[in-house]
Parts: sequence; structure tokens; C-alpha cells
Amino acid sequence: MNATINLEKHFPVLLNELVSIISPLYGGTFIDCTFGAGGYSKKILENNLNNVIAIDRDNSVNSIASKFQKIYEKRFKFYNKKFSDIDQIKKNDIKAIIFDLGYSLNQISDLNRGLSFKSKGKLDMRMGLNDFSCDKVISKMSQQSLFKIFKYFGDEKYAKPISKKIVQFRENKKIETENLVEIIESIKKKKTGKNKSTKVFQALRIFVNKEITELINGLINAYNILPIGGVIAVVTFHSIEDKIVKFFFKEHSELKNASRYLPKSISSKKYFNLTKKKPILPSSNEIKINPPSRSAKLRFAYKLENGCDFKKFVNYFSYLKEIENLNFDA
Ligand SMILES: C[S@@+](CC[C@H](N)C(=O)[O-])C[C@H]1O[C@@H](n2cnc3c(N)ncnc32)[C@H](O)[C@@H]1O
Repeated sequence: MNATINLEKHFPVLLNELVSIISPLYGGTFIDCTFGAGGYSKKILENNLNNVIAIDRDNSVNSIASKFQKIYEKRFKFYNKKFSDIDQIKKNDIKAIIFDLGYSLNQISDLNRGLSFKSKGKLDMRMGLNDFSCDKVISKMSQQSLFKIFKYFGDEKYAKPISKKIVQFRENKKIETENLVEIIESIKKKKTGKNKSTKVFQALRIFVNKEITELINGLINAYNILPIGGVIAVVTFHSIEDKIVKFFFKEHSELKNASRYLPKSISSKKYFNLTKKKPILPSSNEIKINPPSRSAKLRFAYKLENGCDFKKFVNYFSYLKEIENLNFDA
């Protein structure tokens, strides 16, 4: 085979660390829930014993997936799906399910998609397979709903004045990306290390792409299709994602009510083996080569048992899901 895949300018985050977790399981199917530029999939497929099922909601990665298809043939299969639908994939030799959350550099740097505050024109922010774009959120949602989105998904201290100004501004003029940046900058006067628009843009991306619901359902469905002994590994990029993943593994991996004087309840079961409680972080060398990797955290756990119901997990984060479900006439 002469074809090769050149990923020279692409730096998959925490790749060596991920490989050290999954390589003892080589020889079977690996699900790459966030295919992107294919960095993880390529590394896994370098071992001839492995198959990869890759998923991505963004159909702009179809062309990369087609190249993989030509080279790896039956060992590679791609689905343009959301990873919350992972339970539609039936396979009985799954060894690991991997999530590398967030956006690829290709997505952020494509200014037509409006994911970044450096974009111009219509607000978009869709990753793929969305119900609406950011334009609808900014032009239709109530001030109260915008406030909640900025506060809970962006931890934005100025959520109230920013949401108020958006509602005033749109009475006279349609808000495009550059207007939103101007509104934020007119309120946040003090200089900080981060760009002033970072938090509001993060919040809007989470809302438009329903990232919280995706993650919660994706993790639960990954557990449901993973055989005992398999591993779930997740790379997160912001504190909300990390909080969800940490809770998901920790809550179901520690013995609760384990006292011998108490009746053995369902909650005393351990569903995951969490060998490392702390997340794995990128080395200083990786951060030097690829600065955006500085916010990445890798957590993983091995499945021990079937039958976890995840009620507490779902309830614990229901306040975030409720915000993602806010409707346009609220
Ligand atoms: C950080 S990139 C992954 C990079 C990849 N690990 C690599 O090495 O090239 C994240 C990718 O996940 C995809 N993605 C994010 N959320 C998703 C979801 N809920 N379902 C499917 N794909 C998703 C994005 O479209 C993006 O292409």
C-alpha cells in the first residue's frame, strides 16, 4: 500500500499517555468517539491486530475518513453521528472507548463556522447535526435564558450586563460575531490574561452543541456497550466537562455503604476500577509544542460490572441539562 496519512501538523493531545493505557488491550475493536483529524485512530491502526470504529458529528471530516478507509479497509469504519448514539453500534470485541472532547484546530480556525471570537459575520458555532445555530440563540432567547447560559456554561461574572446589552442591541440591529465581541468588550473593561470573549463564546458553543447532554449520554451509553474489562478514556478541556467525567468514574468506582454491619445494597457495588484518581496532564514539553493542550486532562477507568443505573449521576447534573433544554420563548 503506497497511500499514507500525513498528520505532521496535527498534534493529538496526550497521545503517548493514551497509548500507555490502551496498548495492553491491543487486539480488538477500539471506538474513537471524536475522530477529528484522525490522530488517535491512526496510532491505534498502526497495530495490525486492531480495528477502529470512528465517530464524528462534523461531516467535514468525511474526506479524512475516506482516506483512512482506503488504507485500512475493513479495519476501519466511520460514522457521521453524535457520540451519544454510540449504543447503536453493536460489536462484541470492544476493548476501549475513547473521547477527546471539544473542537479540533481545523474547526476553530475555520472562521466560516463562527466558533471563534476571531470570526466575522453570522454567528454559527454548529459542530454538525445540530437543531439550531448561535444566530438563533442570540437573536431569539430571553435575557434571563442568555444570563443562565453565560453564568452556568461560561462562569461569566458579567453574565447579567452582557445579556441585558444583547437584548437592547438586537432591538435595532442584528448581532453578528463582531458585534457580540464589541458588546462583551464594552462591558468587560478590565484587562485579564484571557481574551474577554472566551467565556461567553465557550458558553454559547456548549449550548448550541448540547455538549453537556452529549457527554452525559455518551458516557452512559459507552458503559452500556463496553464489555467487562474494557476501558473508557476521556480527555476534557474545560472544568464542566472534567467535573462530569470525574463524578462519573468516582461515584461508580468506590465502595459505598461498605460497612459489614450494613446490608449490601446496590450502591455497594463497584462498576469501575479507577486505578488513578487524579487526571493525567500534558508534559511541559507537549504544552511547549502544542500550547492549546495546556487545559487537557485525561481520566480513565476499567469496567468491572454490568448493571449500573446512573440515576444519581444523571440527577446530579440535571441542573445543567435543564439549561441546555431552555427553549426560545422562555
Ligand atoms: C478535539 S477533536 C478530536 C481530535 C482527534 N482526537 C485527533 O487526534 O485528531 C474533537 C472532535 O470531536 C468531534 N465531536 C465533538 N463532540 C462530538 C459529539 N457529541 N459527537 C461526535 N463527535 C463529536 C468534533 O467534531 C471534533 O472533530
